[in-house]
Amino acid sequence: MSIWRVKPVSAFEADMKKSELKRVLGKWSLTAIGIGAIIGGGIFVLTGTGAYYHAGPALAISFVIAGIACVFAALCYSEFASILPVEGSAYAYAYGTIGEVFAWIIGWGLILEYAMGSMTVAVSWSGYFNKLLKMFGIKLPEWLTADPASYTGEGFSMNLPAFLIVLFVISILIRGTKGAANANNFIVLLKVSAVIFVILAGVFFVNLDNWDPFIPAATEIVDKAGTHKAYGIGGIISGAAAIFFAYVGFDAVSTQAGEAINPKKDVPFAIIASLLVCTLLYILVSLVLTGMMNYEDFNPLGKYPEAIKAPVAYAFDIAGQAWAGYIITIAATVGLISVLMVMIMGQSRIFLGMSKDGLIPSVFSKVNPLSGTPKNNLMILGGFISIVAAFTPINKLADMTSFGTLFAFTMVCIAVWILRVKQPNIERTFKVPALPVIAVCGILINTYLMINLSKEAQLLSLGWLAIGILVYFLYGKRNSKLNNKEE
Ligand code: ALA
Repeated sequence: MSIWRVKPVSAFEADMKKSELKRVLGKWSLTAIGIGAIIGGGIFVLTGTGAYYHAGPALAISFVIAGIACVFAALCYSEFASILPVEGSAYAYAYGTIGEVFAWIIGWGLILEYAMGSMTVAVSWSGYFNKLLKMFGIKLPEWLTADPASYTGEGFSMNLPAFLIVLFVISILIRGTKGAANANNFIVLLKVSAVIFVILAGVFFVNLDNWDPFIPAATEIVDKAGTHKAYGIGGIISGAAAIFFAYVGFDAVSTQAGEAINPKKDVPFAIIASLLVCTLLYILVSLVLTGMMNYEDFNPLGKYPEAIKAPVAYAFDIAGQAWAGYIITIAATVGLISVLMVMIMGQSRIFLGMSKDGLIPSVFSKVNPLSGTPKNNLMILGGFISIVAAFTPINKLADMTSFGTLFAFTMVCIAVWILRVKQPNIERTFKVPALPVIAVCGILINTYLMINLSKEAQLLSLGWLAIGILVYFLYGKRNSKLNNKEE
């Protein structure tokens, strides 16, 4: 019973033939799934922190660096998706190359990215929803919008909007992937139009003096939140880690490979296309933002103390264009629904893959014959995600989502290289050019970003992975389907 056993590619192929998922996703729906997961609250919220505490106007370079880190990983994901178009994503790729215990750790780490990401997104959705209601003069009582730890009153409280939005998304997902993809296409169209609109409208308010100096000299900022090493080259790099959350999500395309009509070609296309579109939009948004408002004005102790919480809307407010705040709030409220949808869908497919291999209970791999979706799996996940989102201050832990993602990216860069060396002749419809260079760069840059995340996130995430190892030895290792084969 080796913990290093590897699932052969032929076993993945046999699983694919038996799969009950419906193949309904074409090239553009897959691309929309990528964009649907990437563009969310991150771009509208983290840009202020990125500019003030880290990079200044050079925030655009931080977006380029984080984008490049993602492109290296995206290329590696694409090669894998062209060989193993299965639903388990990075977990499955590691199982086919490095070995079971690593695959398990990656699957466990992906829970941080997808399930925990969904919880934090549900809470941010609730924040935007409340803001939208306030714009129309409606205010929900605090006991219905705050988790018990954040509630300032006495008695019962819960984040009801966060709870309900998860149930709403689950109800769409269990009905079928085709319907969910159509809803996602619509939302993506809306949010991409809103982002383009913000860029085009914002350009008119750019003051070029705000970009001078474009890279402010390195310094230390000391405030209530601690001491931050800001600006200069170091600031640009730590800025890339700080805004990385805005890129999280494109890899979710790979979790849909089991439902793609032509996965070997379309999944690589969709991963790369969705990432490139979003990288371009993000660079433009950050340039416009730091041109509209001086990075120093995002100081929470300065003349606009609220600006850092909603930087893009605030920049328009100061320019006398408060209407843009409405567009941004509507775009974020609707847009976050698709982030949530794709993240929960991604988590359910990873569990499906792990369950088929026997590493988690079989209830996660039953596919409903009518809808072609893993209904029980989605319902369990939905119950769990909605309860945590409603009753815990999970949004304080958002950096753990970035940790889980960067960890998976690093492992995929390692795994794709191993498979190229071990099985060079296997059919690959997409091949990473200059793989050793891309893989090494991907490993280095993603690991570097991971160690630039907050210490709290690193420690908690490592603690999570340690619990994972324990669960593997108590459950996964014994129940693995490869046990029977070995016997
Ligand atoms: N990238 C997603 C967001 O920014 C998770 O909300």
